[in-house]
Order: sequence, then structure tokens, then C-alpha cells
Amino acid sequence: MSFLVSSIKKRKLGSSSSSSSSSSSSSPDAKKTKGSSPVDAVRSTITNAAPRKWHGTSVLGVDQFTKTHLEDVFALAENMKQLVAVQGGCDLLKGKVLGNVFYENSTRTRASFETAAYRLGGNVLNISTTGTSVKKGETLQDTLRCIECYTDVLVLRHPENGSVVRVDEYLKKPLLNAGDGTREHPTQALLDGFTIMSEHGFIDGLTVTMLGDLKHGRTVHSLSKLLCNFSNVTLRFVSPDALQMPAKILTALQGKVTFSQHADINEVIGETDVLYVTRVQKERFATLEEYDAVQGTFVVDRTLMQKAKDNMIVMHPLPRVGEILEEVDNDPRCVYFSQMANGMYTRMALLALALVKP
Ligand code: NCD
Repeated sequence: MSFLVSSIKKRKLGSSSSSSSSSSSSSPDAKKTKGSSPVDAVRSTITNAAPRKWHGTSVLGVDQFTKTHLEDVFALAENMKQLVAVQGGCDLLKGKVLGNVFYENSTRTRASFETAAYRLGGNVLNISTTGTSVKKGETLQDTLRCIECYTDVLVLRHPENGSVVRVDEYLKKPLLNAGDGTREHPTQALLDGFTIMSEHGFIDGLTVTMLGDLKHGRTVHSLSKLLCNFSNVTLRFVSPDALQMPAKILTALQGKVTFSQHADINEVIGETDVLYVTRVQKERFATLEEYDAVQGTFVVDRTLMQKAKDNMIVMHPLPRVGEILEEVDNDPRCVYFSQMANGMYTRMALLALALVKP
């Protein structure tokens, strides 16, 4: 069912900016019990998010979010973190099944969605291209329409730009985009935003430097657009010339954030609050020669860290392939491992928002 055409089963995210629990579906009970247990806190946040109509809604790209949507996710991810710390999980998704469909390699995204479902009491059907009728020539939409018959929510990663948005039009169940080609990785951007918020306490006014393969990196495409929801954010894009941020993304950022492009990280390291590093995406190059020409041209090491602010944080969606040396891993400013843990809390939040009726 088209995301653009309203339907009964699939809904667009609501645009309400209200963060109060004023909707008719808000329950006074949830308010009363707020804070009394981690599960009550989770339920209360889901109730407060009701005006944004998350229930049954797909997450396809960051453009569908307002700042209030981001606040919903960050608040619920924090609730999930507490829930896991106190009691490991709960049974909010009991009887629900997640279809985890990956047509590209994945460690973190796939595993964090899977454990997110388990921690909320749900089950998971894992599907990858090997061993399915994809090998017999089945279309993406037919494979997904099959899997949605057996499941309640779908997660899809696919190498083709726009494929997740396209296939969503055929589906009745909510679909969460786990990365489509070089275009978008919205759930990663949400966990990245949650990590920045957790580490700095705010996002307004920060200088975020993105370093690496900005041409092919879908995480930086989504994150830079997501940061447009905050005030006075400055983006510094640092990359070899051949790997610069696509013009289409720069156009989308115009007038919403201040940004500039650089070839040398030393020009901006001193003013940076968040250093977001990405790997050179070997699999997306036309030839090995083009990859060899740019790989290894930037590295985060102790020398670079000495030039950075004391409260700068270093993030990376991972995997890393040499662009951050292990010698800096124990620097408290390097938060890429807690960022990874935040992935599970954020995906618990997204699954709960999609599946739990407020
Ligand atoms: C990223 C991705 O798949 O886009 N990884 C992830 O989801 N954590 C980044 C990458 O592969 O380089």
C-alpha cells in the first residue's frame, strides 16, 4: 500500500508537534503509573507519542520525521535502556513476529533488530538471499508480500536505492528501512541522534564533522538530514574529493544547517563536538583501482585525538576497516561501542512504536 496514499492499514506519521498525552487514546492510568516500573515508563512514552501516529507506520526515510518524532524515539530508547538494565526485557511484543530481511551483509543492524524483538518478548524470522526463492527469480515485492503473511512487522535491507520505499507500496504491515543502497539508513540515524543526545545532553548548536566516504555512506546521508531538525547545527564534511557528499544532499541541507566541505580534517578538528567517521565502501566502487586510489587517505589516531576538544565524541556506524586505530579505543571520547548498544535500545523503541497500540 502506497506510503503517499492514505490507507486504513498503513498510515503516514502524524505531523502533530504536541508531546503531551492529550489524544483521546491517552490513558490516565499510564500517566498515574509513570515511573513506577520500567515497563510503565515505556507504556507512558508510547501513549505520549500517540499524536504522531507511529502505530502501524513504516519508517522509510528521515524526511518523515519532525523534531517531536525524534523526541519520541529518544525518550523511548532511554526507557528501553533502563528496562534492559533493570530486568533484561519484557513481554510487550508477546505473540508478535519480526520478519528480518537482509539482501546485503549486516552484523549490527540485523543482530540489534533481532535482539530488540527478543528483549520485548517477540519472535524473529530471519531471511537472507541465500536459500530463498529470490534465487529462483522472484521479485522483491512478491518475497516481501509472502513474508508479511507470516509476520507483524518487516525490516528490509537492500542494495538498490529507493527499493524499500518502492516495495512498501505493496505491503500492509509496517516496514522499517535497514538501509537501501547508498540512499538512506533512517534507523541508524535515529540511534546516532540518540547517542549524540545521550553523550552531549543536547544537539542544538553542536558542530558535527563527518569524515570518510560521504559519497556512498547512507548513514551520513540520513544523519545530516536528521540534524536539520535542530537549531544552529554546523556540519563539516571532510573527505577525499572523489568521495564528497552528493549534491542532492547538500541541496536538501541548504538553509537548514550551516555546512562546509574540506579535504583535511586538521582544518576542523579543533571546533568539532561530534566526529562521525565512516569507512570507504569498497563494495560500491565500479573498479578496484578507484577504491585503491582513495582508501587509507584518512585515519583517526592518537595524534588527531590530541588536537580535539576534551568533550568531543567519536562515532562510527561500524564496521571500521582501518580508519580508526585501535590505539584510541580506550579514549573515553570514543563512543562507537556504546553507540552500537544504543542501536538495540533504539530499535526496541521503533518496534514498540510500530506494534504496540497506544
Ligand atoms: C553501515 C551500513 O550498513 O550502512 N553499517 C551499519 O548499519 N551499522 C555502515 C557501513 O556499512 O559502512
